[in-house]
Amino acid sequence: MKEAQGKTIYLKDYLPPSYVIDETHLIFKLFEDKTLVRSRLLMRRNPAVGQQGLAELVLNGRDLELEKVILDGEVLDSQHYTVSDDTLVIPTVPDSFILECETTIKPQENTSLEGLYKSRVMFCTQCEAEGFRKITYYLDRPDVLSIFTTRIEADKTLYPVLLSNGNNLASGDLEDGRHFVTWEDPFRKASYLFALVAGKLKSVEDSYITCSGRKIQLQIFVEEKDLDKCDFAITSLKKAMKWDEDVYGREYDLDIFMIVAVDDFNMGAMENKGLNIFNSSCVLANPDTSTDQAFQRIEAIVAHEYFHNWSGNRVTCRDWFQLSLKEGFTVYRDSEFSADMGSRAVKRIEDVSFLRTVQFAEDNGPMAHSVRPESYMEISNFYTVTVYEKGAEVVRMQANLLGPEKFRQATDLYFQRFDGMAVTTEDFVQVMEEVSGLDLVQFRRWYSQAGTPRLDVSGKYDSQLNTFSLTISQSCLPTPSQAVKDPFYIPLRMALLDPQGKPISLCLELNEKESGDNDVSDELVLHFSEAEQTFVFKNVIEQPVPVLSRGFSAPVKLHYPYARDELMLLIQHEQDGFARWEASQQLALQILDELLLLHQQGKALAVDERITAAYASVLEAAVSDSSLDKAMLSNLLLLPSEAYLAELAEEVDVDGIHFVREFLRRHLAAELETKLLTVYEDCRNTVPYLFSAEEIARRSLQNTVLNYLACLDKPECWELIEKQFKTANNMTDSSAAIRALVNNPSEQSKALRDELIAGFYETWQHENLVVDQWFSMQSAVSAPDNLGQIVSLMEHPAFDIRNPNKVRSVIGAFCHNNAVGFHQLDGSGYDFLADQVITLNTLNPQIASRLLTPLTRWKKFSTQRQEIMKAALNRIKETPDLSRDVFEVVSKSLQ
Ligand code: TRP
Ligand code: ZN
Repeated sequence: MKEAQGKTIYLKDYLPPSYVIDETHLIFKLFEDKTLVRSRLLMRRNPAVGQQGLAELVLNGRDLELEKVILDGEVLDSQHYTVSDDTLVIPTVPDSFILECETTIKPQENTSLEGLYKSRVMFCTQCEAEGFRKITYYLDRPDVLSIFTTRIEADKTLYPVLLSNGNNLASGDLEDGRHFVTWEDPFRKASYLFALVAGKLKSVEDSYITCSGRKIQLQIFVEEKDLDKCDFAITSLKKAMKWDEDVYGREYDLDIFMIVAVDDFNMGAMENKGLNIFNSSCVLANPDTSTDQAFQRIEAIVAHEYFHNWSGNRVTCRDWFQLSLKEGFTVYRDSEFSADMGSRAVKRIEDVSFLRTVQFAEDNGPMAHSVRPESYMEISNFYTVTVYEKGAEVVRMQANLLGPEKFRQATDLYFQRFDGMAVTTEDFVQVMEEVSGLDLVQFRRWYSQAGTPRLDVSGKYDSQLNTFSLTISQSCLPTPSQAVKDPFYIPLRMALLDPQGKPISLCLELNEKESGDNDVSDELVLHFSEAEQTFVFKNVIEQPVPVLSRGFSAPVKLHYPYARDELMLLIQHEQDGFARWEASQQLALQILDELLLLHQQGKALAVDERITAAYASVLEAAVSDSSLDKAMLSNLLLLPSEAYLAELAEEVDVDGIHFVREFLRRHLAAELETKLLTVYEDCRNTVPYLFSAEEIARRSLQNTVLNYLACLDKPECWELIEKQFKTANNMTDSSAAIRALVNNPSEQSKALRDELIAGFYETWQHENLVVDQWFSMQSAVSAPDNLGQIVSLMEHPAFDIRNPNKVRSVIGAFCHNNAVGFHQLDGSGYDFLADQVITLNTLNPQIASRLLTPLTRWKKFSTQRQEIMKAALNRIKETPDLSRDVFEVVSKSLQ
């Protein structure tokens, strides 16, 4: 078994398939103990490969019981094929033939949530990446594109709704209270896009008229109890359909678009052709049960899956190494959509925060891989923040390099040229080059090299020559199997501010080697591409303050020795929202670093009051200027997260980071109490709930401020929190009241927190998704002794280890978001996680492997912690029957 576990697949070994499948006809007979699957495949040799390809036919299949194989109408006896754990091999087949297979599967016993499985009352599928092979024998790879017809038969009372991809062709009654429905998908697709759903479902219906006047039927299928939570997703879907027409010229292609909500789901959602399947937490919402954050997430994910219809389904990936071709591009598309729907600067800030905390950490850990990985053992482990979020940054850089018009021309050409094909990231970049005339040879390293480039920048002002020189050097740490990195091409959108904070006209001295846009303006893009380069600006008459990465123009770590007064100037005057926020983060980081050092030396903590002044001016602006974006102001008041501080640290001082960050929060709250109260009162509002960018922004500022007020340990503040909780007319405000109490260790705070948490459960125990939130609020309580709480939550009747959302909201929230509790020095957190991973390894390998991440970061911690973390990893590694998913992550992280 160990050998099969450790088998590595390499990009360099890619070969096109020896056979193609023109048509795939499937019949499913669903029963309560098993499902019979009958396939009829119209196959022929791949003309692109000709006779050089293998003569034998090798089909993928896992956990299947093979009943019968029929080749061109003849039943094959068992000497004419071989079945292994993961293949069916037929040594000789004609050039063109019909293959029929009958298999039995057991969806009811499938806890991996991959292939066909049962989620409570309904049947559903998840085929990406390699789940289709758990349904029937097939060429289960993304470059085999076939037309599918699907007939589903099931009990009519239990499963009145039977769905699959494409158009409904026929339906009717059968004997024994059963019925059938037949679906046909006219678009060729890869098997990972196949979907089937059967259940007692109700639907919310709407329609959309496309740009060419076609009427599309829209349906969201849910259990009856959730019918009141579909409107928002329908609205989001229509907005996404319109946006893709307006911004990318992409029209929907089928006459019907369906979404199904499923409670047990490994990821967020899946873009199956015409039949998207969603984790219910990513589609169901109403103001009573969902926070603003949940609404925004739903809007983004509905759009993401819809956008895949072009970036993923019509144009798909040649092999799974190309995953970012569809995911990076689609994340870029959905982030631009969200930016257009809400606050652009705030969307950018949120995306960059996430990238820098989670993706930079991945790039620095044992599973680091490039956007286009070179090898994998288990592809499910590569649905990562690197492939998704860094991949989106790589597309964003290309979009910015080309500019909006050329980029649109390029995407038009991409969709047109590769429609109906399975292609590579190389094809994507080539189209960008072809349309723009740019040379992207060096740029391609963003796809092939892992690791986050670090930029060290220094500035030198010469008052004699009136020049300002920026010297930039880049470096990138080794990552597994890539010891040495070549320089990246890094676009830096920058500006220089004068001492009054006004941008100055930029005039770059160009020599042959260095390049940059040469028009005189107050912003330009530096094309930084060598190990080290100096850029000289002329006619600079005063010492300027540089702004180095407006809009975070490249996914790099920037180091510039800003003086704190320079940061103050940027916070006050910089026009780019992202850069202004970044200056305030830099100021906070400098101050937190200083506090951490004092704390580690056992000295008294003294706060540089410039941060208090900066926050004071944000609070004043919130009251005096109602035209300012309150979401932006709210972000300006947020200290860097513990997770980001940990990512930046050489060696993570878990308790120190928590201590000084909480210290600074309490200090700011005490110093700014009156201003905070004024802003809170100003933002408090009892008008009926409205989901609009402006109202979300208001609630965000209100609740950020409430979080500070909660640190004050004052009866007036407890009263405010309690009042907000009791009078809230929406979930954002009521859950924010509880969350404001989470990090306060005082007894009074704990008492109130326990009271509110109990009340919350009382009210919401019948709403599954709210119970998830209830779990995660408690798991995130940053207390050293929180593990006991976690263990008792797992005994709560609402907890179910087979449900990924529950696992994420209890175990995940504790291990990922509660550093103080998880990293207890007695190793209890590590042991606990190892136990859970071992349990889940058998039930659901994908979830087990994802949960494991915090342990893989052992190199970032003290030697004392390293030893216990490694011991926990070793214990997992020694577990018999380790899944490929978990084996890959433990073995790589112990190397
Ligand atoms: N393609 C999906 C998306 O990003 C991702 C996905 C959904 C997935 N379910 C999965 C990936 C299960 C791996 C396994 O939109
Ligand atoms: Zn996706």
